[in-house]
Amino acid sequence: MSGDEGRGYEGYARLGLDRSGQAEAFDAIGERYDEAFPHKEGQLAAGAWLAETLPPGSRILDLGCGTGLPTARQLADAGHEVVGVDFSPGMLDLARGNVPEARFLRLDMAELRDGRLGPFDGVAAFFTLLMLPRSEIPHALRMVHGLLRPGGLLALSMVEADVDDFAIPFLGNTIRVSGYLRDELRQVVCEAGFDVAGESTLAYAPASTDVPPEIQLFFNLRRA
Ligand SMILES: C[S@@+](CC[C@H](N)C(=O)[O-])C[C@H]1O[C@@H](n2cnc3c(N)ncnc32)[C@H](O)[C@@H]1O
Repeated sequence: MSGDEGRGYEGYARLGLDRSGQAEAFDAIGERYDEAFPHKEGQLAAGAWLAETLPPGSRILDLGCGTGLPTARQLADAGHEVVGVDFSPGMLDLARGNVPEARFLRLDMAELRDGRLGPFDGVAAFFTLLMLPRSEIPHALRMVHGLLRPGGLLALSMVEADVDDFAIPFLGNTIRVSGYLRDELRQVVCEAGFDVAGESTLAYAPASTDVPPEIQLFFNLRRA
C-alpha cells in the first residue's frame, strides 16, 4: 500500500461495523431485485458516462455490484475490464451468470481499505453506500478516492433521504439504509476529495408495492 490508499478507514473502528442481516437480505432477494427495479434510465445514463468518458480497456470497480445488471454488463460491453465486489453470495452467483467475462469477488467493501484490488480508472457505486451507516459513508468515499488513479471517475447514486441506519421493509426483508438530502450529499463527496462533473435527480417508482417511490440522486465525480 502506498500514498493515501487505505486512509479512508483510518480511525474508523473495524469492530464498529455492524452488517447483521444485510448480506442475508440480499441473498434472499436475489432476482427479485431486478424485477422490482426495471427501467433503470438514471443508472444507465450514469453508467454510460463512466463507460464513455474512460478509454476502452479501463479498469473499473463495480462496488456492491448486485446481480451485475445493468452496470457490470454495460461496462463490460463497452470493452472495460470489470471487477465486481459484493458481500452477498447469492447476488454474486447471479452476477457471474449475467457477466461471465467480469471478475467477481465476495468481499465487504470495508476490506478494500488496505488498497487491495486497486488502482482503478473508475468506480461505480450505485445504491450501495446507502447500506452503510452515515458515520461510515465519508470513510468509504475516501477509500474509493484512494483506490482511484489521479483523475479517476466515480459514478455514485444514492436515494435522497434524511435518514441514518434506518430499518426499512424491502422486498419481504428488512434492511438498514442511510441517506442525505442533495446539498448535503454534494458536501460529503466534495469533502472526500471529489470534484462534481455532473449531477441529476430522478423520481423513480419501483415495480413493486414492497418498495415506496424514491428520489434517486446521481453524481458524476472525478478524483480531485
Ligand atoms: C441496493 S443493491 C444495488 C446493486 C447494484 N449496485 C445495482 O445498482 O443494481 C446494494 C448491493 O450492495 C451490496 N452491499 C451492501 N453493503 C455492502 C458492503 N458493505 N460490502 C459489499 N457489498 C455490499 C448488497 O449485497 C447489494 O447487492
